[in-house]
Amino acid sequence: MLNYFPPMGIYEVLFSFLDSCGTYMGNPGTHPWAQGFPLTHQLPGGPELPGSIEFGAADLKYPPAAGIDALLEAIRDYYNYFYAANITTDNIAIFAGGRPAIFATVSFLQRDINILIEETEYTPYFDLLRLLDRQPTLIPSNESNRFRPQLSDYQQSAIGPRSFVIKSNPCNPTGVTWSGEQLKSLVEFCSTDDHGAILDEAYEFFHEPGPVSAMTYIEDIDATNLFVIGAATKGLQVPGMRTGWVIAAKQNIEIFRNYSSIGMGGVARPSQLYVANLLQRERVTHARKTVCSFYAEQRARYATAFSELGIELFTGNGGFYHWCRLPGDLTARELNERLFEHKAAILPGTLCDMNRRGDTGPHGNYMRFSFGPLEPESFDENITILKSCL
Ligand SMILES: Cc1ncc(COP(=O)(O)O)c(C=O)c1O
Repeated sequence: MLNYFPPMGIYEVLFSFLDSCGTYMGNPGTHPWAQGFPLTHQLPGGPELPGSIEFGAADLKYPPAAGIDALLEAIRDYYNYFYAANITTDNIAIFAGGRPAIFATVSFLQRDINILIEETEYTPYFDLLRLLDRQPTLIPSNESNRFRPQLSDYQQSAIGPRSFVIKSNPCNPTGVTWSGEQLKSLVEFCSTDDHGAILDEAYEFFHEPGPVSAMTYIEDIDATNLFVIGAATKGLQVPGMRTGWVIAAKQNIEIFRNYSSIGMGGVARPSQLYVANLLQRERVTHARKTVCSFYAEQRARYATAFSELGIELFTGNGGFYHWCRLPGDLTARELNERLFEHKAAILPGTLCDMNRRGDTGPHGNYMRFSFGPLEPESFDENITILKSCL
């Protein structure tokens, strides 16, 4: 009785990996270069990740629909302190991760609104737009502009009376990051009456020289249709806590609160308590610094090694992926077949094509290599495997 819907693209890779290798990607002995999770243990020189959490009988009650006070206050203080934002707890709604927040926002978007999305973007954006029966306008993001669209590309595509941008920043998969004046101008463009945006900041901490957020440039979020989405998934290193949030105008947060009362019932209190703790000022200051520098180092060393292997890099200054073109005519799919023999896999670039043109399309020779879950000590082995498969 249900309409079938397939899982998001990366699962294709996970399932073929399982078929071919007889084990799950991410299990010990595998090389999970396709996967988008960070290391979930203490980084060298970084803050500890607590191994337990205290809670009492009151925390076993239903949580409030938009989030518990401790977490709402921690998030409010975090953005007001680090980005000079001017938000209250009424500007925040908690979700079970970044994706549920994105999905809820797009599902409430009015039908006549023109969705603008870059041609090369985060895999599930494609799936959720299809599931919600929305046809976006694609902003060119390809080899011809080195995956670096400009504001003018958005301006030219904002046809029709109202437009809404969906953008990951730093971008997954390219790592290209809008910051400073460029980000400010995007915020201004999206803040007018007839425009709005999801600015998906899952990789906020993973930017060199430092974390970046659109909140720096939003003067009065209540006067906008901006949705700044964050999560504890990457920077705070706790994807398993399933905690994400939206910062938006109070009247939009009210819609999420209403939605939660109908469709979600809030988010587990222990997860929220745990994440509130991670956002404590001194700890999060430490985490921002270490995550940024640890992953900047990983980004740089893999970049050097890839260039030596004849892989052309298009990666920006953010995220924990390398976005690259394989040498010769090798497709990412063919490379994966070879990598599977070593229990390794990358994400084929075709899964980041918001037009899904397959191996013969412009993303056929591109791969997204994730260094998010890789231990620094695995570097030599990773490069040896990649080299042998090229
Ligand atoms: C661009 C982007 N946004 C959001 C997320 C949030 O994911 P989650 O739902 O696991 O918090 C991710 C994780 O891969 C991501 O890459």
